[in-house]
Amino acid sequence: MKNTIIIIIFFISFLIISLIIFKQNQKEMQKQEDIYTIYPFYKEKYQNDYINYQKKNNLSMRQAILNVNIGLNHPFYENAKETTYNNDLTIIVNKYNYVSKDFIPNNLVSASEYSKKGVTLQEIAYKSFLEMAHDIEKDNMHLRIISGYRSYSYQEKLYNNYLKYDSQDLVDSYSARPGYSEHHTGLAIDIDNGITDYNRFHITQEFSWMKENAYKYGFILRYPLGKEKITGYKYEPWHYRYVGKDIAQYIHDNDITYEEYYYQFIDY
Ligand code: DAL
Ligand code: ZN
Repeated sequence: MKNTIIIIIFFISFLIISLIIFKQNQKEMQKQEDIYTIYPFYKEKYQNDYINYQKKNNLSMRQAILNVNIGLNHPFYENAKETTYNNDLTIIVNKYNYVSKDFIPNNLVSASEYSKKGVTLQEIAYKSFLEMAHDIEKDNMHLRIISGYRSYSYQEKLYNNYLKYDSQDLVDSYSARPGYSEHHTGLAIDIDNGITDYNRFHITQEFSWMKENAYKYGFILRYPLGKEKITGYKYEPWHYRYVGKDIAQYIHDNDITYEEYYYQFIDY
């Protein structure tokens, strides 16, 4: 009799514990589902990194998740990988994503009408630039392309030349290392108005116009003021990236960087 009671008690206890574990698992699964609903770009493999990064940097969970997805919990250039979507408008090239030494984008065309001889760009970006340049002229302003597509070896020359004058840390704040420049994509342009030096572009009327209108032609200001920690570069009022009208509109309306867009909607 005593043994039977013990067995029954044991059995009931076993049932209760199983039920508790089952309920707990269910809750855990629900929590995971909720996380994916709120943050569709949540990556389970980074679960611990998100928590540590959020605590360390005192950020919202959303921003911490995005920053970790971007790679910002590691120093720039650490864990860098070859970029994906090589000939797509969504290609990302930054301090964590590089192009191979021999990468040449498709459909490069001469941008001769609005630049010095020799500047080339992807056709789709140049066509949109032409529309934009023609429209700004209706308001008596002018745009000129001072840099477009750059090869690996050209960027290497530029970067090494800067190193003759500035420390590597300083150079890294304004110039990409070879392979890491968005100019390799043929979708990035540096512009000025043909009168004012490009590094004073922000004081020109053309810059104010670009702030209001560039996104309508599919261009974004790629290295904005105040976003240096995300992009890894000092403010560059002259550097624009063609991403297409839909993406440009979203980035403009939400005041985010291309990195934040990419790791929310493209790579998740
Ligand atoms: N100045 C930009 C970051 C480049 O070198 O591509
Ligand atoms: Zn540039």
